[in-house]
Amino acid sequence: MFRGRLVTVEGIDGSGKTTHIDHICACLRQQNISVIRTREPGGTELGEALREILIRRVDLAMDAETELLLMFSARMEHLRKLICPALENGTWVVIDRFIDATYAYQGGGRGVSMDRIRLLENWVLNGLTPDLTILLDLPIEISLARTNARKQASDRFELQDREFKNTVREAYLERARQNPERIRIVEASAEMSIVKRAISDILGSLIEQIHSQI
Ligand code: TMP
Repeated sequence: MFRGRLVTVEGIDGSGKTTHIDHICACLRQQNISVIRTREPGGTELGEALREILIRRVDLAMDAETELLLMFSARMEHLRKLICPALENGTWVVIDRFIDATYAYQGGGRGVSMDRIRLLENWVLNGLTPDLTILLDLPIEISLARTNARKQASDRFELQDREFKNTVREAYLERARQNPERIRIVEASAEMSIVKRAISDILGSLIEQIHSQI
């Protein structure tokens, strides 16, 4: 039995993650690959309860490092209950946000020490790294226009100002510079068909690379 692959999708709000994750899962299933789709924070019963606190309970004041620890608590549960068993079973896992979101939002946006995040990453992920990360990049103006149009009320992160969002975007781009093999940047402001084609091509090369290793 071959191990499944871990694909993560990242990007600031309004980057079209949901639609593009639909496309990724459809592409994989077309190749007869069994795939589970999940999200962070969340993905398990406890993780979803933590998500509610982390994202929706804007009435609760929260220290940035408490926020960091709760993100990793949800992640530990997710890894133990869902991600690792699926990968071991040969199933691919596609996650709407994962470890790079923590570097971008808690590290970049909140200014928590990157070393502290790395420490938790080493403990909780224990060497697991996504096989592929698609970073849907978007200028802040377009992100703001799209999220304002959506008018999603009371999300702890969507409520942050432009400066926060800009720092998050920059931190994502820095992660991509540091991990050029794994993190592939896709211009999410392009026309939908162009974005989809770019994603299909990236997935196609990953599948080809896997086949050439067998
Ligand atoms: P979304 O999944 O609906 O995009 O919302 C999840 C929010 O949680 C998003 O604003 C980013 C934030 N987040 C973090 O701040 N750190 C993390 O590690 C993760 C996974 C998400």
